[in-house]
Amino acid sequence: MSNHSGDYFIIKAKENGVNVIGLTRGKDTRFHHSEKLDQGEIMIAQFTEHTSAIKVRGKATIVTPFSTIESDE
Ligand code: TRP
Repeated sequence: MSNHSGDYFIIKAKENGVNVIGLTRGKDTRFHHSEKLDQGEIMIAQFTEHTSAIKVRGKATIVTPFSTIESDE
């Protein structure tokens, strides 16, 4: 199993009700967690053994080691 300990990301909500949805790692790709953020709330998280992808629904700033991206652009 590879090491995901450096794979952090930050989500900052720009409106109420932004959803950060975690998708499972491995053979099945399915939702396993949904976190709701209100405007100004920040979630700092990482990719793990259980989480290989995330989906962001709503207006947010997403910071990753690769780039900072705005979901409403
Ligand atoms: N239990 C989950 C895990 O260890 C928690 C988690 C980590 C998570 N990163 C996430 C949930 C990103 C949603 C989105 O993988």
